[in-house]
Amino acid sequence: MELTQVLRREHEIICDALRLLDTAATRLQQGTPGAAEASRRLLEFFRSFADENHHGKEEGILFPALATVGLGPDGGPVAMMLSEHDEGRQLLRSCGEALASLDDRTTRQRFGEAARRYISLLSQHIDKENEILFRMADQLLGPEQCRAVDEACAAHQLAKPGETERWERLLGEMAALTSIKQGATVEG
Ligand SMILES: [Fe+2]
Ligand SMILES: [Fe+2]
Repeated sequence: MELTQVLRREHEIICDALRLLDTAATRLQQGTPGAAEASRRLLEFFRSFADENHHGKEEGILFPALATVGLGPDGGPVAMMLSEHDEGRQLLRSCGEALASLDDRTTRQRFGEAARRYISLLSQHIDKENEILFRMADQLLGPEQCRAVDEACAAHQLAKPGETERWERLLGEMAALTSIKQGATVEG
């Protein structure tokens, strides 16, 4: 069994949301109605699901387990992942600042640039974890530690009842918001 199966499933959800963010950013730059609201919700999704929940599990459960088998946080792949989590947080802040004052074309442009940097960073980050770090983790941690990590990830999820349903509902709403006014071109 892969110890990283909960985390891998979350990567798939995050990648779906990254595609929605790309659409929302394009529509926002085009001035499409509804795009600002969709972008706000997506930002909230990335702050809570991708960062607080998912990166929280990696930093609080997986990385400490990896430190016990020689992959510490001060160098190598774990240090790189930690620094990318930080970079992602900074880009989310930049997106939030641009969204807070969406009054002209320049701010919409600024949001689009920050959002695209975030999309690129997180897509590559997820590829690296899936293809390199998680594979190393699956090999380096013994079966008992694997089970402990996976159980801790599942328990982390259960600590907040109804959370998964909330994410799924939010993603559905965002998918609707990013497509509902596809034909419109100018935001009032
Ligand atoms: Fe990560
Ligand atoms: Fe991850």
